[in-house]
Amino acid sequence: MEKINLGVIGAGLWGESHARIFSTHPLSNLVAVCDLNKERAAEVAARYGAPKYYENCEKLLEDPDIQAVGIATPDFAHREPFIAACQAGKDILIEKPLATRPEDLEAMREAFLNSKSRVMVDFHSRWNPPFVIVRDDIRAGSIGDVISMYYRLNDRIFVPTQMLSWASKSSIMWFLGSHTIDTLRFFTGSEVKRVYSLSRSEVLTRRGIPVPDVYQSMLEFDDGVIATIENAWIIPDTNPHWNDIKLNVLGSKGMFNLDLTGNQAIERFLEDKSDHPDLLVMPVIHGKYMGFAYESIKDFIEKLVTREEFIAGFEDGYRVSKVVLAVMESALERKPLDVDYS
Ligand SMILES: NC(=O)c1ccc[n+]([C@@H]2O[C@H](COP(=O)([O-])OP(=O)(O)OC[C@H]3O[C@@H](n4cnc5c(N)ncnc54)[C@H](O)[C@@H]3O)[C@@H](O)[C@H]2O)c1
Repeated sequence: MEKINLGVIGAGLWGESHARIFSTHPLSNLVAVCDLNKERAAEVAARYGAPKYYENCEKLLEDPDIQAVGIATPDFAHREPFIAACQAGKDILIEKPLATRPEDLEAMREAFLNSKSRVMVDFHSRWNPPFVIVRDDIRAGSIGDVISMYYRLNDRIFVPTQMLSWASKSSIMWFLGSHTIDTLRFFTGSEVKRVYSLSRSEVLTRRGIPVPDVYQSMLEFDDGVIATIENAWIIPDTNPHWNDIKLNVLGSKGMFNLDLTGNQAIERFLEDKSDHPDLLVMPVIHGKYMGFAYESIKDFIEKLVTREEFIAGFEDGYRVSKVVLAVMESALERKPLDVDYS
């Protein structure tokens, strides 16, 4: 069967996940890795058996062997490689959020519409089994009409203070809020039309990262559903999982409650700590990379081969970024705002 030749642009923490799957999936070959940091590009290329590495994405994109790329540059740096990949006619898996500035979104949309590139945005929560079950049940009508939703998706403070060197150029709304909003769109199949958000900036600002600690936002969807979402970047590192995840969907005939914070099916007690091993995000089972964070990347490869529609396309990324922009502006202005999709 046809194998897709792939490259990775941005070989940091998450770009390495792209490289891991591109190099191990039976339908793909990892051909090249690119990072502004050439040593990092060389290291990831060597680790995953890619024959070529570059520090400049133009060089990678000139390579006629490469059919598609994964883009995992920092949140604020998606525009340049995305537009270059569209101009080179490569298919693209781009990390969320699609972009963080309105002008980048417009430039990327123009490049996409003028290209032959197929684009998937890595909203990998759409591959998280509990969320897919909720969504399929909602669509089958099992809880009647959705009336309201609540979704908390918070990160340990380690993420903005130690994991991401560029947290001050992003925000929890871009980093996790984009997943939150996309998941609720995925559940309802409708769009957010109006938002009202409040934020607080205390803890991270005092630590030299001048972005909000938390946003609490209310969303009104165009089919009447209302939702409250919470996205915080400062939960204690003693939280049993990277994220604190709580979700409620209230329908006219039923309800879902999800607590994915600890994947509590397994409790592990050791001499110095107790924890809940990861079951959903990226467990390794019989040496294979499983979990929703990897399934989305695998699905990108498979849909390149089958040419089926991607589960999250360019327009999903564009609309989610528009909602995040409205949420952040609403919190700044402290007033409700309509989402501007134009
Ligand atoms: N899907 C997810 O849930 C998920 C999880 C983590 C990160 N991400 C996303 O992945 C992206 C990368 O995050 P990360 O944690 O890997 O960041 P990172 O800082 O670890 O890695 C980013 C890499 O991109 C490189 N880079 C920057 N500009 C570049 C350019 N123009 N060309 C080539 N390389 C460039 C940097 O040198 C760095 O090595 C972000 O958008 C982030 O939100 C997604």
